[in-house]
Amino acid sequence: MNYKTKLLRTLVLFCVLAFSKLMAQNYIPSKENLDARVSFQEAKFGMFVHWGVYSILGDGEWVMNNQNIAIDEYEKLPSFFNPIDFDPKEWVALVKEAGMNYITITSRHHDGFSMFDSKVTDYDIVDATPYGKDVLKALAEECRKQGVKLFFYYSLLDWNRDDYFPRGRTGKGIPGRGEGEWEEYITFMKAQLKELLTNYGEIGGIWFDGHWDQKEWDGKKFGELKVDWHYDEIYKMIHDLQPQALIGNNHHIGVIDGEDFQMFEKDLPGKNTTGWGTAADQIGLVPLEVCETINGTWGFNLQDRKHKSNKELIHYLIKAAGYGSNMLLNVGPMPNGKIQPEHQSSLRAMGKWLKENGNTIYGTQKGPIEPTDDFVSTQKGKTIYLHVLNPDLNLIHIDRVPVKIKSVRVLKTQKNIPFRNDKFGMVVDVSALSKDPIDTVIQIELK
Ligand code: GLC
Repeated sequence: MNYKTKLLRTLVLFCVLAFSKLMAQNYIPSKENLDARVSFQEAKFGMFVHWGVYSILGDGEWVMNNQNIAIDEYEKLPSFFNPIDFDPKEWVALVKEAGMNYITITSRHHDGFSMFDSKVTDYDIVDATPYGKDVLKALAEECRKQGVKLFFYYSLLDWNRDDYFPRGRTGKGIPGRGEGEWEEYITFMKAQLKELLTNYGEIGGIWFDGHWDQKEWDGKKFGELKVDWHYDEIYKMIHDLQPQALIGNNHHIGVIDGEDFQMFEKDLPGKNTTGWGTAADQIGLVPLEVCETINGTWGFNLQDRKHKSNKELIHYLIKAAGYGSNMLLNVGPMPNGKIQPEHQSSLRAMGKWLKENGNTIYGTQKGPIEPTDDFVSTQKGKTIYLHVLNPDLNLIHIDRVPVKIKSVRVLKTQKNIPFRNDKFGMVVDVSALSKDPIDTVIQIELK
């Protein structure tokens, strides 16, 4: 074989290998999965629940790390975790009252404690607490009864297990951590995920978190990933067990092959005001979800009184929808299983607003105008909903809408509003309107 032929053969072989690798990696979502994505995107509003044995300490879900609580001390918590007032019926009823369509609950957080009956550890709610019952099971049953989708949050990072080794950059000051085999940890996670996908009926999906623990952070940017999370195998297993189950991963980077939705933590899509969030150029072509807390913490925090106002929360939901995104709003139930009254009342207020205005949010897509603090647009077919968030606005200037406009009206009263739409842009004159302090919706009908 001469040199040229050899080179050509190597090149062809290389291309075939590269192509087959690409094909092998390229996840093609099933029909069930694509349908689930559509209904997820239409659902628009869900409840995030951070609940675990940490709630006893009333200092958020990172308390083990933040107070450097030794493993053997922290492990005493389950022995007095007894949420006798937990009533899944009440939770799901509240979800409905709030106008929410799904729940995402922590099945296991960074402290490594499983809130479900797991056969691969005793460090779980059934084996280690006086309560002794699987709260996820009760919740899954109630969700099914009331037609609410249930997703499981699952922490990739673990401050308790020896085999979570190499350790990540968090939890370094926790006394009593051992050393073990990474591959055993992966096997453990797979076994737990299999339990979550087989023992709770059809679920909405899995919400991963903690990826970033295995990257150094210098206060400005993340370093290289230090471990192999085996996402290819894990994601495949999930999709094989339940094709409709949606996978999302709060890794703060672009969508990885096999993921079905993308989340943005404490930020509107691409805004990255936190500094460690997902950048605008990493927004993928999958359904989006922003998650936010009502006060400042995810897990129950006794002294966190920085509850956002109803107006702030409603505006966040509207803005998220203006980006085509869902909003997953968090509650951190108390150790007795109740949701704190302040948060219940915020949720009810949102539900009240949605009862009147829900058709401008649910089932919509992002509108033609980039959201601002003053106004946001959502769209359903030939209807654009222009949400006026700033009641002091008189004229709304936006880019010219490149389609003919049939009418511009106040949604509530159907009163016509003066407007202009020409090569200089579109101007809607809202000066004569008496505006709602939260949101005045203007309905623009396209021809
Ligand atoms: C962060 C935190 C975690 C919380 C999550 C929710 O990743 O580590 O405590 O569960 O955000 O978005």
